[in-house]
Amino acid sequence: MSTPIDVSTTAKAAAPKTDMISTLAKKWKKIPGSLIMALHDLQTKVGYVQRESAMRLGHEMGVPLAQIYEVVTFYNFFKTEAPGKYIISVCLGTACHLKGGANVLESLSKELKIPEGTSTPDKEYHLQAVRCLGCCGLAPVVSVNNKVYARLGHDAGRHVIDSIQIDKPMIEIEPDSVDA
Ligand code: FES
Repeated sequence: MSTPIDVSTTAKAAAPKTDMISTLAKKWKKIPGSLIMALHDLQTKVGYVQRESAMRLGHEMGVPLAQIYEVVTFYNFFKTEAPGKYIISVCLGTACHLKGGANVLESLSKELKIPEGTSTPDKEYHLQAVRCLGCCGLAPVVSVNNKVYARLGHDAGRHVIDSIQIDKPMIEIEPDSVDA
């Protein structure tokens, strides 16, 4: 069984830490024309492009907020509102794929009765596949907002949803360790 690991100081849905934004800004700032990639990275980690996060990212990358919103509103891919209260990201990166990431996704999809990339009708859960959450040594992993569930097995769906519902205690780890 996996114990969820909290990588935030708050348990608020998809509210990213300043540290994560700084890490993203540092990573992409040096590469000219990388704004789309930086926003893509942000959405992959958080689930959507929150206004506050976009402002911080723009500030740290030296890009005006207006330019960020031009990009976010032009591409349908970007979400500016949380697609669900709990954003469940199933890692299908190489390490997780080799350790059964696809089975984890299938298990969650069955449990929630929704296909990947969609939300439950009550907008409680959103299920998405992502590429590498930066903690490959814990594969296969799932993140729910800022909590990471590691080394999941065949019962991943029931286990993750149960953990969310009873709000199990968490272990705190440094955010940089999942942002690598
Ligand atoms: S491949 Fe899943 S965390 Fe890196």
